[in-house]
Amino acid sequence: MSLNFCGYGIKTKFRIQFVLRSVRLTTLILAMSWMGGNTLGQVAENVLPRLTAKKLEIGELPNAILVCEGVVSGGLPSDEDAFAKLKELGIKTIISVDGAKPDLEAAEKFGLRYVHMPHGYDGVSEERGLELAKALLELPGPVYIHCHHGFHRSPAASVVAAVGAGKLAPEIGVAMLEFAGTSPNYRGLYQSAREARAFTAAELAEVASEFPAVVEVPPMAEAMVDLELVFDRLRNFRVNDWKSPTNHPDLKLAHEALILREHYTELLRLQDQEQYSTEFWQDMRKSLELAEDFERATQAESPMAGKLNAAFLKVEQDCKLCHRTHRDIPLKEKKIGDLSYYRTRNSIQNASPKK
Ligand code: HEC
Repeated sequence: MSLNFCGYGIKTKFRIQFVLRSVRLTTLILAMSWMGGNTLGQVAENVLPRLTAKKLEIGELPNAILVCEGVVSGGLPSDEDAFAKLKELGIKTIISVDGAKPDLEAAEKFGLRYVHMPHGYDGVSEERGLELAKALLELPGPVYIHCHHGFHRSPAASVVAAVGAGKLAPEIGVAMLEFAGTSPNYRGLYQSAREARAFTAAELAEVASEFPAVVEVPPMAEAMVDLELVFDRLRNFRVNDWKSPTNHPDLKLAHEALILREHYTELLRLQDQEQYSTEFWQDMRKSLELAEDFERATQAESPMAGKLNAAFLKVEQDCKLCHRTHRDIPLKEKKIGDLSYYRTRNSIQNASPKK
């Protein structure tokens, strides 16, 4: 086992080393074990960190990256082949950090433990960071930390968890996100990586060893997960010239467009439950109109590709615009009422009240 593995090098000069080539995974991951609590203590003063993350290039596990010993970050294990792959790699625990409900049945079938610790695109709160670090220290490893695509939230969660558990040098957190392809637009995720620190034993001791398999997510996040599913199906139509996808000939375009529009209607019904701003709900009403325009384009007797493309593009751009305006604002810059997963927790109680 090498100390260099988790970013603690024996070089005196700061060095970032991206190891891009694919690695002999099974050997690597099977050989993994926790580095123990005294890792930091073993690092000499003049030793500076370097990044030694590896892209694993496994078809079943999108964007899988070996973050450090015992921690792999990646995308959703979406079918049994993916779970079989995790098992083959020696993974023992899976941590989902997005809002979708984990597939517990598949995990159980392969003898894997699933833990649900979601966070938003606005960053990883201090509490969630502590819980993630505790999970790394207490649950059987290696651990696979995933979100939907494996580009944004899971690398951020992995950095906060691994740094928090003393398994990764804090100085390389940001480089890890860049390596994973995390979009710089997610400033909150970068902020979490930049501010990640090793938690003290006392801080970790205060965190309950509760690692739930599924947690409730805010209604807005839950609705968004469903919206994304239908949106992804429509993307499959688009790449097939708006004909039913070859692997799903049963799907009908106008029907999918109707479901998309209905999701926006449902989202607007969340006004009683979700404390978003007036502007937010105004934006959501405009989003509904765009979904209606798209639906109309699909209802034409012979829908025209040009019109469909244009109307769908508007819906797509609108997802991004709303997220940028309301969702992706770093946790620390948010106001009470804007907050998502942690709106009732301590970390946001210092946020400024919403005007
Ligand atoms: C008018 C605003 C708005 C629009 C339009 C919108 N979203 Fe969202 N979306 C949000 C907000 C706010 C959240 C964060 C909810 C939370 O964390 O509680 C979110 C969260 C998400 C999430 C993360 C869910 C999770 O795992 O936590 C996904 C995925 C998503 N949206 C997909 C989409 C897609 C796809 C579209 C377009 C088809 C879209 N959204 C349109 C506001 C919007």
